[in-house]
Amino acid sequence: MKTELVKIEEDNIDEKALEAIERAGKIMKEGGLVAFPTETVYGLGGDALNPESSKKIYAAKGRPSDNPLIVHVCCMEDVEKIVSEVPEAAYKLADAFWPGPLTMIMNKSDAVPKETTGGLDTVAIRMPSNKIAAQLIKAEGGYIAAPSANISGRPSPTVAKYCVEDLDGKIEMIIDGGQVGIGLESTIVDLTVDTPMILRPGYITFEMLQNVLGSVDVDKTIIDANSKLKPKAPGMKYRHYAPKGELTIVEGSQQNVVEYINKEAKSYMNEGKRVGIICTDATFDLYKADEVKSAGNRENEETIAKQLFKILREFDDENVDVMFSESFDESGIGQAIMNRLLKAAGHHVEHV
Ligand code: TXA
Ligand code: MG
Repeated sequence: MKTELVKIEEDNIDEKALEAIERAGKIMKEGGLVAFPTETVYGLGGDALNPESSKKIYAAKGRPSDNPLIVHVCCMEDVEKIVSEVPEAAYKLADAFWPGPLTMIMNKSDAVPKETTGGLDTVAIRMPSNKIAAQLIKAEGGYIAAPSANISGRPSPTVAKYCVEDLDGKIEMIIDGGQVGIGLESTIVDLTVDTPMILRPGYITFEMLQNVLGSVDVDKTIIDANSKLKPKAPGMKYRHYAPKGELTIVEGSQQNVVEYINKEAKSYMNEGKRVGIICTDATFDLYKADEVKSAGNRENEETIAKQLFKILREFDDENVDVMFSESFDESGIGQAIMNRLLKAAGHHVEHV
């Protein structure tokens, strides 16, 4: 299959862009697949109400079909048609955070095929704020099933280049909307339980949800490496990303961390290994290795969220054998950053 690549600027959706978006919507309506930008990461979209489209999505990603897809909508009325009932909490959360990087789990109606929900009776729903995504959902007719647009086991794409790398030749179209704003996948909150529960941390933090809902639980498996429990979001059980190299997170005082990483890096490089380091602006000049990359500024962890997956992809491209990363504060969006980093590291943490 020839994959068409279309460039659209989110802040300049002109006639030509609209025409391309209409065409992309039609492709999905007719059962095809289109990768597109959202504010979190790129999504691989198909018609959420067509079981054949969902099957194609699993096939293109090489994803196990028990791992449910998120249904993307563009208005609240459309949510009502795909759930058995909209819980009060959903209206409150939608008021506060939609359109935006929050996914809510509700009990599904018969309109949603089980192929889309990985066999579950619940459905994950999100209303993205990215303007290209919003237009595209409208053009498609209202319901786009979209996992992140990567091959299963690779980091979610934050630039279109990585959609091309993973999906070229397998889908009808890729819309390049530039680098995404957030860089980590949406927060997922389950509203089918008595106390709403966070199943995946993201840009919308525990504190933000608590402010709106009063009480919120967190799935214990999100951060705890030793948890024997099964994660409640089926996808969270997979080690999201198996980097080509081995990643270790190093935790401790800044001085100890820098000393430890430099010592390890030196000894690996002496063995002829390529070493990559993920650090921050403040420590960038202190490291010596083949590839040293600052993820951003600790004072503003959003900068780190935005760069993390891109850096991990770059290390793969650069054939890095061994990677070290500084550790991050687990409050606010730090919880999401550490959740993704721990998964990439297979929970390998050194305390120094
Ligand atoms: O930011 C995002 O959420 C991106 C963009 C494209 O919207 N999408 C995304 O989708 O990250 P994906 O498929 O890579 O991750 C969806 C996660 C998986 O861990 C899946 O198991 C969980 O959501 N999930 C989906 N439906 C669920 C359900 N009914 N119950 C529990 N977990 C569910
Ligand atoms: Mg994913």
